[in-house]
Amino acid sequence: MKIKNHPLDTCDNDNVEITFETDSVVSLRGRMLNYRPGHSVVLFKESPETLASTIGRYITKKIYEGKRCPYCKERLFDEEKSCPKCNMYLDFTSPDIIKILKDFKIGKVIERLTGTEKEKIERGLEENKEMIGTSEAMKKVFQLIRKFAPTDYPVLIIGETGTGKELTARAIHERSNRADKPFVVVNCAAIPHDLLEAELFGYEKGAFTGADKKRIGKIEYANGGTLFLDEIGDMPYDLQSKILRFLQEYTFERIGSNETKTADVRIIAATNVDLDQAVKEGKFRRDLYYRLSVLTIKLPPLRDRGEDPVIMAKYFVERYSKELGKNIKGLTADALEVIRDHPWPGNVRELINTIRKAVVLTDKEFIDVEDLDLKVKCNPQGSGNGEDILNLKRNIEDLERRLLKEAFILAKGNISKVAKMLGISRPKVYKLMEKHGIGEIPE
Ligand SMILES: Nc1ncnc2c1ncn2[C@@H]1O[C@H](COP(=O)(O)OP(=O)(O)OP(=O)(O)O)[C@@H](O)[C@H]1O
Ligand SMILES: [Mg+2]
Repeated sequence: MKIKNHPLDTCDNDNVEITFETDSVVSLRGRMLNYRPGHSVVLFKESPETLASTIGRYITKKIYEGKRCPYCKERLFDEEKSCPKCNMYLDFTSPDIIKILKDFKIGKVIERLTGTEKEKIERGLEENKEMIGTSEAMKKVFQLIRKFAPTDYPVLIIGETGTGKELTARAIHERSNRADKPFVVVNCAAIPHDLLEAELFGYEKGAFTGADKKRIGKIEYANGGTLFLDEIGDMPYDLQSKILRFLQEYTFERIGSNETKTADVRIIAATNVDLDQAVKEGKFRRDLYYRLSVLTIKLPPLRDRGEDPVIMAKYFVERYSKELGKNIKGLTADALEVIRDHPWPGNVRELINTIRKAVVLTDKEFIDVEDLDLKVKCNPQGSGNGEDILNLKRNIEDLERRLLKEAFILAKGNISKVAKMLGISRPKVYKLMEKHGIGEIPE
């Protein structure tokens, strides 16, 4: 790939010409978003059809030329459509690529491209529905779930990231009288503040610029069922009073309407911030906090769950091994020891991702310490002196790049899943992809 008129030549980032040499030589126009030799980010101006026939062919050619899967580095022996090891898509010449480029969502790309194969993978990698726990702390949680489920009261679930807040909310819903009605999730942190009210309460046509038709909100969708307000600590202060009113009267108005509506919805809220502190700082309404926190479930971090990490690790090895058609018999004693000692800052999600990755990548019968890849590795290219090895910034960047790459492989490029696995927002995933050049055309 050659870039003409690149910023070093002309300083005109908006009009660069990129030449692809495949069977023929084709030039495309683009805008340079970020230029570094070997790591450029270009936004192409051409039609999806042109992009598919040029870049798609170019990427495919490069992949087959390299003879290794660009995602997991497995050796490729012939021109297969997807990697035999990690299943990532390898052939970007299909007409389907046009559809994908049209909506420009990488997650959707892989989903559409892999069709039935994707279904198989998705089933395998599906979020697990079971809740595992043998520690005293978790037994208490299970007791509370059973006790709270049949009541219609709000429940507040508190826990660090990845401790199972959403899973707990679903478990309550599934054991409640509302089980056959919808369970609707609204992540207050993921939706821009000015859109959250519309998302929750809906709006009438013309209620604000861009409201070209009426839309019902998540509260109405959830009628009869449960509304899960995730990351409630991120809800803007003025919206908190509207939710409080809903909790008291079960009434609300769509934006742009005076008609008061009612909905029969149970609210379950979750937070990983200390709401008590947020109340003290004036960021969270005291009255809403009191209303929500009557029934509270505190999910302990994984490091405080005794043998649970080991039990879960064994369970997930068996499960993923079966799902991926592998014959992994378990974990070595050393690997179990590392699992027992690891602090699991990302909690159950981190453990699941660690195991899943180990199962995908290992060729051994027993997963060992090396497969778990839990230690922060120092940059081997470093000069070797102590200062270099300990350079925190570089080590964090290395770790960030590695985790992002691994999440990409496991999520088959589905950005939502990558974001979920990494415990960050989708915009942040895009930022990191750009920063680390992941998802780029190989040079
Ligand atoms: N006790 C458990 N047993 C089995 N799987 C679990 C358990 N707890 C959580 N998980 C799994 O761990 C992952 C993370 O759980 P979940 O999304 O519910 O966490 P969360 O607390 O909502 O995380 P976040 O704060 O990042 O939103 C999910 O795949 C979930 O199925
Ligand atoms: Mg969650």
